Amino acid sequence: MEHNKVAVIGAGLMGSGIAQACAQAGYEVVNIDTFESAIEKAKANIEKLFNKKVAKGSMTEEKKAEILGRLTYSGNFDDVKGAFLVVEAVPEKIEIKKDTFKKLDAAADPETILVSNTSGLSISEIASVTNRPDKVMGAHFFYPAPVMKLLELVRGLVTSDATYAVVKEFAAKIGKTTVDAPEYPGFLVNRILVPMQNEGAFMVMEGCKPEDVDNAMKLGCNHPMGPCELTDFVGIDVMLATMTGLYNGFHDSKYRPCPLLETMVKAGHLGKKSGQGFYKYDENGNKIQ
Ligand SMILES: NC(=O)c1ccc[n+]([C@@H]2O[C@H](COP(=O)([O-])OP(=O)(O)OC[C@H]3O[C@@H](n4cnc5c(N)ncnc54)[C@H](O)[C@@H]3O)[C@@H](O)[C@H]2O)c1
Repeated sequence: MEHNKVAVIGAGLMGSGIAQACAQAGYEVVNIDTFESAIEKAKANIEKLFNKKVAKGSMTEEKKAEILGRLTYSGNFDDVKGAFLVVEAVPEKIEIKKDTFKKLDAAADPETILVSNTSGLSISEIASVTNRPDKVMGAHFFYPAPVMKLLELVRGLVTSDATYAVVKEFAAKIGKTTVDAPEYPGFLVNRILVPMQNEGAFMVMEGCKPEDVDNAMKLGCNHPMGPCELTDFVGIDVMLATMTGLYNGFHDSKYRPCPLLETMVKAGHLGKKSGQGFYKYDENGNKIQ
């Protein structure tokens, strides 16, 4: 099978960016979403982004037309036919992932590799609903997908060496650096990053000022954002859910979510998106305190 067509399932925040990265790298791409509104939004966003690049002079009209010419959209799973690789980026719910992989297994060519961009669900569980678990693995992109260099590669229990090799080659072609991550909650980055944010919350709970926690990590460790700022940015509820996932997945008390995060979520203090987290934000999302 030729390795020139990629299908991306889900045209949301991640799927649309992954489709863009693949089209920019020279692949023929079909971006499939069950919601027409999501497809319209993805199309409008990439047009707007590329028009800005053309206006700034960082992309020519010809290049824009060439890349957009390789990128098509569809609401039909049958359009995965002919793709050597399918990247799934539908919502992070195991029932939706399993349903999607069942449909993909039925619609894709038998030799097609199916990868999931899940942030932490079990690859082996997702693979188990297909008749090709050896051709299923995780490829965890970071937001924004066309820009962020890292791709975490996650093998399920029975992912074959041949599947891994094809996905690694694909990663290199789209300009990503890969790391091998274990199939455990949080994979690699979130397993290290999220407990650090959680520890920052514990320190605030113990009386430290959020700005002291943030300045310590920015000025002492050269982090671009402090743990409290980052938690506000991601969302206190999202952060609590990820930490709870680590705790439930490992059954280890070292991952216990900070009670302050639970109280903040109950109070509706969800971070930047609600206007109040560790800091206060105005209606434009600018920090005011
Ligand atoms: N947002 C991030 O920063 C980030 C980073 C890395 C990984 N992820 C993971 O990527 C995946 C997608 O996240 P997102 O932030 O892009 O979500 P999103 O909500 O922005 O996009 C999901 C898209 O899937 C579509 N969809 C829903 N059900 C579908 C179905 N059955 N078939 C096809 N399309 C369907 C929706 O219309 C939507 O466009 C999740 O697994 C998430 O954990 C997210």
